[in-house]
Parts: sequence; C-alpha cells; structure tokens
Amino acid sequence: MTDERATLPSREPVIRIIPMPQDTNPNGDIFGGWIMSQVDLAGSVVAVQRIKGRMATVAVDSFVFKKPVYVGDLVSVYGNIIRVGKTSLTVYLEVFAERRMIGEFTRELVKVTEAEFTYVAIDDVGRPRPIPNAAE
Ligand SMILES: CC(C)(COP(=O)(O)OP(=O)(O)OC[C@H]1O[C@@H](n2cnc3c(N)ncnc32)[C@H](O)[C@@H]1OP(=O)(O)O)[C@@H](O)C(=O)NCCC(=O)NCCS
Repeated sequence: MTDERATLPSREPVIRIIPMPQDTNPNGDIFGGWIMSQVDLAGSVVAVQRIKGRMATVAVDSFVFKKPVYVGDLVSVYGNIIRVGKTSLTVYLEVFAERRMIGEFTRELVKVTEAEFTYVAIDDVGRPRPIPNAAE
C-alpha cells in the first residue's frame, strides 16, 4: 500500500470532530460505523447545498478504511460533488486524521478513509424530484 501521509486539501473541511472513548470498537480503535456516520453527515452537508431541500442517502458507492482512527485524533472530512444526475448526485469524500491530541505532539497527518455517497432529492412524500439547476 502507498504511504497515506498527506497534506490537507487547501479548501475548508466540511466537518471536524474529535472521536471519544465511547466511539471505539472492541479493539479500542474508532468503530467503523461511527466513521461512516460522520462521512454520511459530511456528504449530506455538501449535497444539500445543491439539492436545496429534502433528500435521502440512496447508496454508499464505495467506502475504504485505509488506516485506523484513534481516540483523540482530530478528524477532518472533505467533500465535493463529482456527479450530478437528474434526481441524484454523488459526493466524493476524504477523511484525514491528525494524531496530535494523544501522546507526543507528533503532528502526524494520515488519510484514513475515502468514500463516495449518492444522495437523491425527494419531495414531500419521498418520491425522487429533479435536482435544481446550479444557478437557482
Ligand atoms: C431514495 C429513493 C426515494 C429513490 O427511489 P427509487 O425508486 O430508487 O428512485 P429511482 O429508481 O427513480 O432513482 C432515483 C435516482 O437514484 C439513483 N439510484 C437509485 N438507486 C441507486 C443505487 N443503488 N446507487 C446509485 N444510485 C441509485 C438513480 O440512478 C436515480 O438517479 P438519477 O435520477 O440522477 O438518474 C428510495 O430508494 C428510498 O426512499 N430509499 C431509502 C432512503 C433512505 O432511507 N436512506 C437512509 C436515510 S437518509
């Protein structure tokens, strides 16, 4: 596997969060479901700015846990829209962990996760509706 140490993207993260002990799995690392939840939330924040209204997550197109996340890491999720369809769009998400909150102040930065989520714009009764034009 390639070296996942990286520099943070120059744009702002969608969310930043520090996982707590209650977010761990039996190994003591951060539970993958917690990470998936944060990534879905971040993807929703990106998607709703284009969908402008009610929407639902329809698919996790890909999700790769590249490195573990630890209690006290500073976790940053970055996202951008990579596809816009008729009623759905896909968001590419990257998660980085700065391992600076535990032990020695190492400033180690690791890319821990990459994912793609698809969201559907829905109407009041949950049926797909067209995504508004970007300019609207
Ligand atoms: C989202 C939902 C309304 C879509 O309904 P549907 O009958 O599948 O709608 P369609 O088949 O017309 O597909 C709608 C869009 O979703 C896309 N889509 C559907 N299934 C997909 C899948 N498995 N992967 C990727 N995209 C998918 C379609 O390609 C279409 O996109 P487009 O209009 O841009 O081409 C319905 O599947 C649903 O309610 N799912 C549950 C959502 C949910 O509970 N999410 C978790 C909590 S948010």
